[in-house]
Amino acid sequence: MKISIIGSGNVGATAAWHLLQKDFSDIAITDVVAGIAEGKALDMSHAAALLGLKHKISGTSDMSRIKDSDIVVITAGLARKPGMTRLDLLQKNAEIVKGICASIKENAPNSIVIVVTNPLDIMTYLALKITGFSAKKVFGMAGVLDTARFRHYASIASDTPSDKIETNVLGSHGDLMLPLLNYTKINGKPISSVLSKEKIDEIVDKTRNAGAEVVALLQTGSAYYAPAASIAEMAEAIARDSKKALPTCAYLNGEYGLSDLCIGVPCVLGKGGIEKIVELELSAEEKSIMRKCAEEIKQGIKELNL
Ligand code: LAC
Repeated sequence: MKISIIGSGNVGATAAWHLLQKDFSDIAITDVVAGIAEGKALDMSHAAALLGLKHKISGTSDMSRIKDSDIVVITAGLARKPGMTRLDLLQKNAEIVKGICASIKENAPNSIVIVVTNPLDIMTYLALKITGFSAKKVFGMAGVLDTARFRHYASIASDTPSDKIETNVLGSHGDLMLPLLNYTKINGKPISSVLSKEKIDEIVDKTRNAGAEVVALLQTGSAYYAPAASIAEMAEAIARDSKKALPTCAYLNGEYGLSDLCIGVPCVLGKGGIEKIVELELSAEEKSIMRKCAEEIKQGIKELNL
C-alpha cells in the first residue's frame, strides 16, 4: 500500500517512523516548508539501514508526490499552545485543511483519508465535504488515542497491564469525550467491580485532560508519540483488512440518533475504510453527553460557513 502523510511535524514524522516498521512499502511525507520532509525522510532512511528495514520513505514539499496513494493522513496544521482549547485552532486550521483536501481530490481520488488535525471532529467533516469522497473513506483519528490514555491511567490505578484493559472512548475529541464505563473491563471484570467510583472519576478526568497536560508540560507543541502510534494502528487495520473495531471519528447518518456530523464511534476498519459503524447501547447519561458533544461539533461546523 502507498501511504502519504501531509505535514511532517512531530506527529506526521513519528507516524511515518512507525509505518516504516510495519507493512507499508511506499511511504511519502510532505510539508509546505521546503527541506523539512526531505530531511526527516533522509534521516529515517539512515536509521532504516541500521535496523535492516526494507521499506522506502521519501520526503517532499511537492504535493503531487501523493499521487495514487491508498491512504492519505492529514496532520498539517497549528498545534495548541498552553491554555488553548482545540477549538481555538478552528479557522486557521480550516484554511490549511481545505487546501490539502483540494489537492488530495486531484492527486489521490481513490484514497482513504485519515484526518488528525484539530479540532478533529470539525476538520474531519470539512475534509469529507471538500473531497466529496464517500463517508466510508474519510474519517478521523482521536478515539484510539483517547482510549490509549484511558488504558494508561486505568493500568496505573489497578496495577494491571494496559493490554488487559478494554475500553472505548467515544464522542468528541474535546473536554466532553465519553469513556464508556459500562463497556470497560479490567482483566475481564467490569471496571466498577475493580475500582472505586472516585478512582474511576479521576481516570476519566485525567483522560479528558491528557492532551492539555502534555501541551502545558511541553510549552511548545502538543503530544505526538501517542497520536502517531494511534495513526499507525488505524492505518495498519486498513492495510491488513483487519476488520477490527476501533473508535473512529465517523460521519453519522442516523446512527446513535445523530446526523450530518463527524463524531467518535466504534467502527470496523478494513480495506474499504469504514466497513461498519458499531452501535452500542448507551445509558441515558451517555446519550445526553453524546448529544452535548454533537451540539458543540455542529456549532463549530456552522462557524466554517461551508
Ligand atoms: C492531543 C491532540 C493531538 O489530544 O489533540 O494530544
